[in-house]
Amino acid sequence: MSSHAMSHDFMPPRGESRGPRANTHARSEVLRMLRDDHRTVKSAFREFDRLDSMDDAEACENLIRQTCMDLEIHTRLEEEVFYPAVRAALSTRVLIDDAEVEHQTMNMLLGQVRAAAMGDPRQSASFRVLGEYIRHHVKEEEGEMFRQLSHAKLDWQRLLEDMQERRALLTNEVEDHEGTFYRQGSALGLRQGLNDHGLRPGRHS
Ligand SMILES: [Fe+2]
Ligand SMILES: [Fe+2]
Repeated sequence: MSSHAMSHDFMPPRGESRGPRANTHARSEVLRMLRDDHRTVKSAFREFDRLDSMDDAEACENLIRQTCMDLEIHTRLEEEVFYPAVRAALSTRVLIDDAEVEHQTMNMLLGQVRAAAMGDPRQSASFRVLGEYIRHHVKEEEGEMFRQLSHAKLDWQRLLEDMQERRALLTNEVEDHEGTFYRQGSALGLRQGLNDHGLRPGRHS
């Protein structure tokens, strides 16, 4: 791949080297990556609804931390790589315009969750509202947007490579700065470790 791998030129390749079957396979991989992320965060929000904020305080804290990281990686991957490619490929701009506005609201709610003290009922409220919002947003993405993309002219192989590359960078970056959030209530999770619930430890654990 050239050094221009991160540019937003997603026109189909002129040569036939990649072939239509490879392109179809890459499209499935791109959409599967996004669907997998959606499934992970939706099940985290369901799990949160089942927990008791007092009895399961540590599990709630771990779930909030991990879900905020997962969401930041996912939304930035879409905003920085996926949406620009989709915008260029679709004939209408309405879907992406709407999705970007919804991301702004999601980012605002994410900021509220991170700014609140761990265990504060207002944090749980922001997190639950974020979950509702995401359920709605995911429905739109996996519905109309993905449907329109099945006919779109796009170099999916290149988009897949760009997304995999950016995802690795974002994961490092987000896991690195995650330690700067949640100052107030973080002692519990840091002392007892984040592994109890099968979650990846943060940098300070
Ligand atoms: Fe998404
Ligand atoms: Fe999205």
